[in-house]
Amino acid sequence: MRRSLIMGNWKLNGSLSMLAEFITSLSDQIDALKMCDIAIAPPAVYLHEAKKQLKNDRISLAAQNVDFNTGGAFTGELSPQMLKEVGAKYVIIGHSERRSYHQETNEGIAKKFALLKETGLIPVLCIGESETENAQGLTQTICAKQLDAILAKCGPDAFKNSVIAYEPIWAIGTGKAATASEAQKVHAFIRQHVSKGKDEIAKTVIIQYGGSVNASNADEFFAEKDIDGALVGGASLKVNDFLKIAQ
Ligand code: G3P
Repeated sequence: MRRSLIMGNWKLNGSLSMLAEFITSLSDQIDALKMCDIAIAPPAVYLHEAKKQLKNDRISLAAQNVDFNTGGAFTGELSPQMLKEVGAKYVIIGHSERRSYHQETNEGIAKKFALLKETGLIPVLCIGESETENAQGLTQTICAKQLDAILAKCGPDAFKNSVIAYEPIWAIGTGKAATASEAQKVHAFIRQHVSKGKDEIAKTVIIQYGGSVNASNADEFFAEKDIDGALVGGASLKVNDFLKIAQ
């Protein structure tokens, strides 16, 4: 059966001292957190140091982005192999902030997804609708389109051993989370859409919720049967808040 995954997406935040504090506190507490897997996604420059300091393999590392090229004249980019070498297990792709500030497309994100799988890294594919799309009743249509780009590129087994994070854009950093039952409906739709009746995929694909998750609302989300943990932004920046969510 799948295990919940609680991942902290630090975005453009953090420092070496914050990293050391997190690793010490998470390592001290990890034995009490039997119900879930834990990962942190600091900025990529900290991954190598994080890997050196981490002594517990129940705490994993994630990168926040990757390029869809494997090497060459692409100034400023990082390849999947580089991220793997410095200790990443997961790579977040398709975050709405990258889709909107860096004009990332479904097709480019699908290329990243394919390359990550080839490299043996686990993609954490972010999908979700805007506030307007939500108001127009287009949530499922938008999520399906974002998922279909991956299925078209990688085939029907694309989501085997993968993670999807449903992050409604209107809930990110706004303090206005979706309700647990709203999110559950979308998660059930996503699970059915990516598995297309294949039990092996339906049972194993991890679908996280992201968008204003905090220590007070986390348990409502995690009580829903299709919500397998969370991708946490703001509340992942203080180790005690992050630990409370995991607890
Ligand atoms: O990737 C996590 C994210 O976008 C949610 O951010 O700050 O609403 O938890 P936040």
